Amino acid sequence: MRVRVLGSAAGGGFPQWNCNCPNCDGVRKGTIAATPRTQSSIAISSDNINWLLFNASPDILAQFQRFPELQPARKIRDTAVKAIVLMDAQIDHTTGLFMLREGKTPLNIYCTDMVHEDLTQGNPIFNILKHFCGVSWHAITTAPGNSFFVEGINNIRITAVPLSSKAPPYSPHRHDPHEGDNIGIQLHDLRSGKKLFYAPGLAAIEAHVLPFMQQADCLMVDGTCWSNDEMRTLGISQTLSLEMGHLPQSGEGGMIEILRPLKASRKILIHINNTNPILRDDSPERLILNSENIDVAFDGMDFSL
Ligand code: MLT
Ligand code: MN
Ligand code: ZN
Repeated sequence: MRVRVLGSAAGGGFPQWNCNCPNCDGVRKGTIAATPRTQSSIAISSDNINWLLFNASPDILAQFQRFPELQPARKIRDTAVKAIVLMDAQIDHTTGLFMLREGKTPLNIYCTDMVHEDLTQGNPIFNILKHFCGVSWHAITTAPGNSFFVEGINNIRITAVPLSSKAPPYSPHRHDPHEGDNIGIQLHDLRSGKKLFYAPGLAAIEAHVLPFMQQADCLMVDGTCWSNDEMRTLGISQTLSLEMGHLPQSGEGGMIEILRPLKASRKILIHINNTNPILRDDSPERLILNSENIDVAFDGMDFSL
């Protein structure tokens, strides 16, 4: 299985248009050792021909341009994207669907009932797309033992894991969490036997989630904030990382502690907020990650598993 990071930043991207935090200001001015990043999405393939997207970022068109393999040019209108899996209904993971409206066939979208509800009610993207290419919805269930295959993505068994995180602000049930608001995904390559666990929004490692993380050969997990009060300390907002549905990396019970005992040979943080000091290649926080064998995803990161 090949994995390509199309975008590695959290909502807002890096730099964020209206932000002058030390990271955003520094990367804009070229005064810090950091690289801009677009909003989070990955693509995977088992044959280097057909690709499955996870999330449709507002930056999707730029991401496609930077990854020409998604356009094989076999006919006048074409794409290598077979389907899109949505991990949640957040703006940074769904807005890109509008950019794919010129599709000649309905978009194959895999998501849970809860995400479908948000995208037909609170933020009715699917309804609007009916006036363009349309949506062919494939329901993802999160019951234990569920798994599915996507046509064209051969030998990759996909299992959805319900996660504790947050439904988006426009969700009819923002403050009333439901199973399926957010999912993690296990990708099991039946040829290599390798397992990837992808969870860009993860607030708590519940008992049913841990085995998926323990089994994984590669982890790509929530890298939003270094500390719970990062946005407060910078005077940006009162919102805590955990309130947004994101487990911070540092501190007791933080992501670093969670990842430390796990056997995965690759541990990657993705969906990184622009305030996070790990975005600076030479920050003390980044050095801590280096010593823990944890990588920070970047746009264009590409590997096989
Ligand atoms: C989140 O995951 O909480 C989002 O990045 C927020 C957003 O997109 O505004
Ligand atoms: Mn997000
Ligand atoms: Zn910023």
